[in-house]
Amino acid sequence: MAPTSVPFNDLRTRFAADAAGYRAAVERVLKGGRYVLGPEVEAFEAEFAAYLGIGHAVGVANGTDAIELALRAAGIGPGNEVITVAHTAAATVCGIERSGARPVFVDIRADDYTIDPRAIPAAITPRTRAVLAVHLYGQPARVKELRAVADRKKLLLIEDCAQAHGARSGGRPVGTYGDVAAFSFYPTKNLGAFGDGGAVVTADAALAARVRRLRNYGQVDRYRHEDAGGFNSRLDELQAALLRVGLRRLDADNAVRQRLADRYLSRLRVPALPCSMPGTDHVYHLFVVRHPDRDGFREGLRRRGVETLVHYPIPVHLQPAYAHLGGRPGDLPESERAAREVVSLPLYPGLTAEQQNAGIAAVNAAAVEERGLAKDRAPALISVPS
Ligand SMILES: Cc1ncc(COP(=O)(O)O)c(C=O)c1O
Repeated sequence: MAPTSVPFNDLRTRFAADAAGYRAAVERVLKGGRYVLGPEVEAFEAEFAAYLGIGHAVGVANGTDAIELALRAAGIGPGNEVITVAHTAAATVCGIERSGARPVFVDIRADDYTIDPRAIPAAITPRTRAVLAVHLYGQPARVKELRAVADRKKLLLIEDCAQAHGARSGGRPVGTYGDVAAFSFYPTKNLGAFGDGGAVVTADAALAARVRRLRNYGQVDRYRHEDAGGFNSRLDELQAALLRVGLRRLDADNAVRQRLADRYLSRLRVPALPCSMPGTDHVYHLFVVRHPDRDGFREGLRRRGVETLVHYPIPVHLQPAYAHLGGRPGDLPESERAAREVVSLPLYPGLTAEQQNAGIAAVNAAAVEERGLAKDRAPALISVPS
């Protein structure tokens, strides 16, 4: 077995990219004497809101809480349904279920793996309150169509932006199209902390204020509690200070991701490459290709020292944890096909050109080998229309 020469990710490269900046942030917090919800959180919230061009950002403990809090602050809970996708991190659905609402799944588009707006009307019932779109892998969902469907059907539009910090559609960042949006700052994210973190963003001042109360025991002022069901979901000062450093680097990091993606796109010979939809800026949180013999292809890459992951091998409607929702194989053909075929290749700002070249050579060799094709008959790329 070859040693791993191309790791899927190496988070040490994030620290190394600005070690002095991160060290200074940590020292400032340690010396400052405030460790949970303090000036760094306030500054990060203001800077993140300004970056997105939205009124309010509220720091919370993680992205799953951000989804739950966004829904609850929007008044969604038991007895309500939220339309979403099954081809996502299970956390999207955990957040919906924890709000008390019932997730209702619709299929994704085959081309960009995001929610298919055309599938939404048939899933609406009198209990439906919201559409929760996931900007999966860094590709914005079809926000304009989604906004139009939501407005027409009088539903809220909620965005799960956990994989899409800095992604844009029509020049406008994701997170600003919905009534409310949730971000995760899990360390691997495009804007990642050095621990857990998340944020709820919205233009609605009252909704933001409700999230602020709910994240902190439902309290308005010290020891005065107005919201029942409050809990502890606070962003800590260390993570906020570190995120401020990361936020200053986000656009440059996303530009590096784009350059790495461009190299992959022009050199890889695999059955299906990711496509960036016209009018959007994909931020390549993940670089996801498809292969009909995905497991054989991955094994070929593993033997060549290239680490890969699968996002995600089991669609949420077929997960044992969600059997109570009644999902059956065949319900969501595109989500199920994606779960069988997708594989994520290494792409992160610290990936070196040498590592990427090794990855490209390995992918092209393994893609041909696993399909049993002669080298001069590499599979044609599937080009997917928008
Ligand atoms: C699409 C999506 N939604 C939600 C989450 C949840 O974020 P967290 O891990 O910070 O709770 C994640 C991250 O894992 C994610 O990828």
